[in-house]
This record gives sequence, C-alpha cells and structure tokens, in this order.
Amino acid sequence: MKNIAILASGSGTNAENIARFFGEGNKVKVALVITNRRNAGVIDRMEKLGIDTEYVPNRVWDECPERIVEMLRFRQIDLVVLAGFMHYVSPVILKAFPDRVINIHPSLLPAYGGKGMWGHHVHQAVVAAGEKESGVTVHYVTEIFDDGEILMQQRVPVLPDDTPESLEQRIHKAEYELYPRAIAAALRRIGSDPEERTAAENPGTPGGSNPPAVPKSVEQEWAEVLKVKYEPSGASVPPPVPGKPDEAIRPALHQPAAPGSPVQMPEREPMPPTYMLWAVLSAILCCFLPGIAAVIFSSMVSSRYNRNDFEGARRASKWAEIWIIISFVLGVISASLYIPLTLVGL
Ligand code: GAR
Repeated sequence: MKNIAILASGSGTNAENIARFFGEGNKVKVALVITNRRNAGVIDRMEKLGIDTEYVPNRVWDECPERIVEMLRFRQIDLVVLAGFMHYVSPVILKAFPDRVINIHPSLLPAYGGKGMWGHHVHQAVVAAGEKESGVTVHYVTEIFDDGEILMQQRVPVLPDDTPESLEQRIHKAEYELYPRAIAAALRRIGSDPEERTAAENPGTPGGSNPPAVPKSVEQEWAEVLKVKYEPSGASVPPPVPGKPDEAIRPALHQPAAPGSPVQMPEREPMPPTYMLWAVLSAILCCFLPGIAAVIFSSMVSSRYNRNDFEGARRASKWAEIWIIISFVLGVISASLYIPLTLVGL
C-alpha cells in the first residue's frame, strides 16, 4: 500500500477526484489532506469521503516546516501531491521528500508559469493572449515555482469564444484525467522494489517472470494493480528500460500526440544562455575588431595624404580595403553559421 498526502488550498475538486480514483483500488491510499486555508472547500469534500484533513496555517509552512515533515513521516507518506496548493513549499520539505513532491499546473509549462500564475490568472492570461491551445502539466516541485521536471502534459484546445471560465472548466476535465495517471507514474518511479524490477527486466534470471506478450503501459499496469478501469486516451508507454527505470515514462511522451492526449515532450534541452553569449561574442570579434582596424587605416589615409605622404596613404588605403573585406567576410560567415545553428538549437 502506498500512502499519498494531498496539499490543497481551494475547492479541492482535484483532491476529490484523486481520492475517488484511488479509493476504488486497494494499493494507494490518500492518507492525509493538508490545507493552509481554514475554510477551504477541500475540507468538506474530504470529510464526506472519510479522509483525514489537517489545517496548517501559513505561519507554520514558513517558520516551522519541520512540523509538516513530521506529520508526513508519521503517516508514512510516499508521495506528496499538490492539488491547487497556493503556498510556497519549503526546501526543508522538498529535501525530506526528494523527487516525491509533485504539482499540477493548468497550462502547458513552461508557458504561463511562475509566480502569480495560478488558477484563473493562468486562464485569463491565456485567453487574453489569444492562444489556440493550453493544457495541463504535472511536474516535480522544486524551490523555483513551476520549474521542476515535467512528468506528464495534456493539451487542451482554446476555442474562439472561450472565456477564462469556460476554458477553466475544460482544463479541469483534463486535470481529472491526467493527474491520477501521473500520480500512478510517479509512484511507480519511486515505488518499484529493486528485486522485482530486476526480475521483470531480466525474465531469464532466477525469480524472473515471463515477459508479457504485449508491453503494457505504466497506466495499464497501475490500473490493473489498482483494479480500476483504464481506457487509454493517448500514447502508450513501453516497459521500463533496463538500467534506466527513471526514464520509463519518457519515451511514450515522445509519441506524436493527438489533440487531447498527452503531448510530446520537447526532444531537446533548451539552448543554454551561454551559447547565446558565445554567439554574440564571436559576432563582435568577427565583425567589430576587423571593422575597427578598417576605420584606423581609413583615418591614416587622410592624415598621410594631408602630409603629402602619397605612398603611405596608398598603403593605408590598401590595408583599409583588406580589413573591410575581412570584416565583411567574417560577418557573413558568423551570421550564416549562427542563424542556422540557432534555428536547430545547436
Ligand atoms: C487547478 O486547476 C490546478 O491546476 C491549479 O489550481 C486549481 C485547483 O482546483 N493549480 C495551480 O494553479 C498551481 N499553480 P481545485 O481546488 O478545484 O482542485
């Protein structure tokens, strides 16, 4: 049995959906819901489901996060799940639960993320910008808002006559579908017993089992474990790669995504800012320095000419010409290399 704790600040529809989803099986339990708002709607919802709720004021989250770690440890929590939790999660908690704190965000991160971007603010910004597509992201929580590794995403179309409210409803539906699956995937990442995993990955070894005829997706396996009905809505997930269990769910997210299905993860890392710095520096070196030499020689032409040093003026003019050509050629080369390299992301 895996225990999860949900942190929520608001209405708690996601928390309720998660509790109902896992409540149908017997392998994952919502052991605790913690809220930082005394009157949060999530409290009533959890009471109806018989799930323990704790109210922890913001002061404790800020000044004494160790108490929250104790609460979570006391309940033997395996995974901490943020569902509309509108407060900073202290590094003390993140360190106590490394790679075990996940969050859902109502946009396709990194778009429309960061401080101040939460709940309806996100939908207002998306509609105001005239976006044609938004979505949902489940990611690991780090000390930086909405910045951790992305676990799963799902696209949601933005319709021409959408208001922030109508978009929010559609996003919520996608959240209800995506979050339980992402939680299952996160639990699987942290939860697989090393011996079991080795056996499954090496079916010929002692303790190994026969490989399944058709590789099952993470969601399918968990649906079976949890004894809940699972209907695939998007890409399937291949079995874990031996020696690389952490990447097990990633390849599936590289499949071309149909609208409404988990989206394709970016294939490459974003270009590091240092590349841009080097590109600018090399452009300066290539164009600017020979350009300066050309200017110096040009000014020598007139000064020598005024001193009736016609031979010196001719030589300076020649050098000015050469440096202008060098500057032009290097400029063309650096631009023609830099632009395509930038386009392909280096
Ligand atoms: C959800 O839409 C969730 O994505 C968002 O708050 C809402 C909570 O709804 N979270 C964030 O914006 C986090 N940055 P709920 O209380 O009905 O589950």
